[in-house]
Amino acid sequence: MCGIIGYVGLGKASQIITDGLKRLEYRGYDSVGIAVLKNKKFELRKDKGMVGEVSSQLEFTTMDGNIGIGHTRWATHGVVCTENAHPHFDCNKTVVLAHNGVIENFLQLKKGLNGHKFSSETDSEVVAHIFEENLKLLSPEEAFLTTISSLGGSYAIAALSTNDPEERLFIARRNSPLIIGVGKGEMFCASDIPAMLPYTRSFIHLEEGDRAILSKSGYTIYDPEGKKINREIITVDWNFDVAQKGGYSHFMLKEIHDQEHFIGQTLHSETDKAKVMIDKFEKIHILAAGTSYHSALLFSYLLSEKGKIAQAFVASDYQFIGKPDEKTLVIAISQSGETADVLQALRYASKSKKIAITNTIGSTITRISDETILLNAGPEVGVAATKTFTSQMAIIYKIIYGKVKLSALQKLIATMLECEESVRKIAPLLAKKSNVFFIARGKNVPIAYEASLKFKEITYISSEAYPGGELKHGTLSLITEGVPVIVLAPNDQTLSKLAGNIQEAKARGAMILSITDDPETAKISYQSIQIPKCDPLLYPFALIIPLQLLAYHVSIERGINPDRPRNLAKSVTVE
Ligand code: G6P
Repeated sequence: MCGIIGYVGLGKASQIITDGLKRLEYRGYDSVGIAVLKNKKFELRKDKGMVGEVSSQLEFTTMDGNIGIGHTRWATHGVVCTENAHPHFDCNKTVVLAHNGVIENFLQLKKGLNGHKFSSETDSEVVAHIFEENLKLLSPEEAFLTTISSLGGSYAIAALSTNDPEERLFIARRNSPLIIGVGKGEMFCASDIPAMLPYTRSFIHLEEGDRAILSKSGYTIYDPEGKKINREIITVDWNFDVAQKGGYSHFMLKEIHDQEHFIGQTLHSETDKAKVMIDKFEKIHILAAGTSYHSALLFSYLLSEKGKIAQAFVASDYQFIGKPDEKTLVIAISQSGETADVLQALRYASKSKKIAITNTIGSTITRISDETILLNAGPEVGVAATKTFTSQMAIIYKIIYGKVKLSALQKLIATMLECEESVRKIAPLLAKKSNVFFIARGKNVPIAYEASLKFKEITYISSEAYPGGELKHGTLSLITEGVPVIVLAPNDQTLSKLAGNIQEAKARGAMILSITDDPETAKISYQSIQIPKCDPLLYPFALIIPLQLLAYHVSIERGINPDRPRNLAKSVTVE
């Protein structure tokens, strides 16, 4: 949901910012821009399009200067066009500013800015003009702090002013992520850590409502009341290579293959304290969005099996249907730890004890929860979540069944990855279809939901997933000659009932593609992917790997960039 980066130091700002924007592009990719300050003058270049194209067409890296800001956009207010791309100027080009979030009171603020000329339709530009107005009366620090105090809604902001003799970077955050990168003789800010990884491993996660001023020699942080405050510096041990494609054509493919290695790291994650909490509660609510919701659903099934009253909620709806109290344990699952819907739902559960399951150390979700479990899956860059889904499942399984039960997991993932060639052969067939259905039963249903989400988000083919028993209650009317039905058919207690559903679909002409270890099911399928001999407990892991690969290869077959699906962003920081 928009990526921001800022730099101040002795290095070439335009180069550092352009590189950082490339690593932030997963947050939004409809427009991009950069502004650099040199000799009290701004140079600004921006346009609609992706970072790679726009930065080379507009020659971003030819801009000179040691301080600057950049932004990659996922439109909220205003169509995708050059004017609405960030950064934005004030009237007199004394201020330049980039924003991620939604300024909810921008219309009201705009009314108070008589005589100001606006160049865009964005809510963000108003902040540049308020800063300009405040600079007429106040010092740059005071003008910035006063500007931020007037804003409603959510924001991560990075701004510069020609009025500031010290040439510093002014930043602030509320309900949108912004992290400070602490370097030697240089400072950074960005929406996410990978953008700064080549330069530093020391980071400060700003708290909600914090503002900060960064110079090449250091930083000052102010709390929401404007008081100077210290915030903890954390050190991450992520290797820069994990945020690179490493020879793969796309991040998504690399991250699918990474699963074999990262799963071992995930299994070392500390889960004991959370497990003690889970054991104490009878009623458990699990909140999440997107892919993480499918993990939440699986978690709720497994907890219910253990006799808990467990329910998974789509985070954005929790406020309407959830009734958490002090007897309810609330678990939030979020790869980024910054999804606005999840944070909002977690805050709604104010009376409950909370556990966060996330991949992002120091993220907002960890700060509003009583306990955190880290996935330790390394940064995930592809918009379509893959390795963090299997990591979430591994954490859930570790909590429910214990680590010993997962000793064969790494090997199983490695074996399933070997089916890529077979998947690649099926891909052209599916690439021509306009509808695809996924069916499963029992605990495998959340995996079918996830496979379907993966498929639709990166292939743009309409796809739906159902518990197999539901076909006859409506969906069969859509099954005609040649319609692909992908069946998640491991040889567990669901198979005999699923076999009936396969026959129902086949009788209407469905093209059955199965993932199975049952020879009979493989025989009646048009094509089949083989699950190796494994502990039935691990079937969900065996199923998801070929289905992630399938979505990827169909996407490639259709000429789509799976790392940049249209209209989507990896981290959605608006509600
Ligand atoms: C976005 C992404 C999805 C992701 C969802 C939840 O919609 O495109 O891939 O599953 O957000 O993200 P989270 O970081 O909370 O797991």
